[in-house]
Amino acid sequence: MSGSNASASKSVVGMILAALIGVPLFVYLVIKLFTSGMSMNMASSTMTNEAVAARLQPVGVVKIVDSTPIGSRSGKAVYEAVCISCHGAGLAGAPKFADAAAWSTRIGQGFATLVKHAVVGFNAMPAKGGDPALTDEEVARAVAFMGNAAGAKFEEPKVAAGAAATIDPNVKGKEIYASVCMACHDTGVAGAPKFGDKAAWAPRLKDGVDNAIAIATKGLNAMPPKGGYSGSDAEFNAAALYLINASK
Ligand code: HEC
Ligand code: HEC
Repeated sequence: MSGSNASASKSVVGMILAALIGVPLFVYLVIKLFTSGMSMNMASSTMTNEAVAARLQPVGVVKIVDSTPIGSRSGKAVYEAVCISCHGAGLAGAPKFADAAAWSTRIGQGFATLVKHAVVGFNAMPAKGGDPALTDEEVARAVAFMGNAAGAKFEEPKVAAGAAATIDPNVKGKEIYASVCMACHDTGVAGAPKFGDKAAWAPRLKDGVDNAIAIATKGLNAMPPKGGYSGSDAEFNAAALYLINASK
């Protein structure tokens, strides 16, 4: 690197300049990437299922994450996903699981009263244990499961056969849309076809609604599989129908 070679071409000077400016710039960018990773990573990190799900998670709500269709979960499953957080250890004065003494007078009120209290809330007991996604029947099953563990002889309401096939797009689908899909489809984030925008939906529906839903179930570019929804395919289907029906 004497610099005295008269035949040094402009390209060599260019290379040195590039190294002088480029290397520090590269190092700066790498450091910036690792120290203030958020700003550099925005585009990718905000679109992961986890990130989307985390932002959509209402504060303080305990969510059931298994894939059993909504409305079809057993008392035991609901208890273990939601009620256990207080009733397991007896938090905040909650009657403890399987504690016959703590439950006996409560059981004496009868199943219907207990279910009502569990559904609408009772003092420090939040409505549906704090998970509004539970159906009244699921709460009733959980009440039967807990009551029976403490000596009651309640009959746990049965799970209707074929419940999964009757998820109403305009009820359950709408609910899922509002809690998950709306984040992108309401305003058209990242190129998502907007709710009610017939022109945006028409080309996507040319091979049929089922086909569009199948594509969305697997994920497509910025659309994560099932839009990041963690419930069953049948529920996602209902949400997609609600979304698509608005644009047909
Ligand atoms: C955030 C804590 C919390 C969660 C979660 C919770 N409970 Fe409770 N629960 C309580 C407390 C506290 C009480 C006692 C309220 C009182 O007697 O003042 C209670 C009482 C009850 C009772 C008795 C009501 C009565 O009339 O005596 C039932 C039944 C019940 N819970 C069912 C459930 C079910 C079913 C779930 C799950 C879906 C659930 N709870 C989740 C805190 C909770
Ligand atoms: C993180 C943003 C995001 C969320 C959340 C999201 N979507 Fe999407 N969705 C997209 C994008 C972007 C596209 C377009 C993808 C493309 O064509 O490149 C899309 C496309 C679709 C399509 C059309 C697929 C096709 O064949 O063209 C359907 C159907 C769909 N979404 C349904 C849903 C449903 C139902 C939910 C909620 C359960 C949901 N999406 C949640 C971003 C999202």
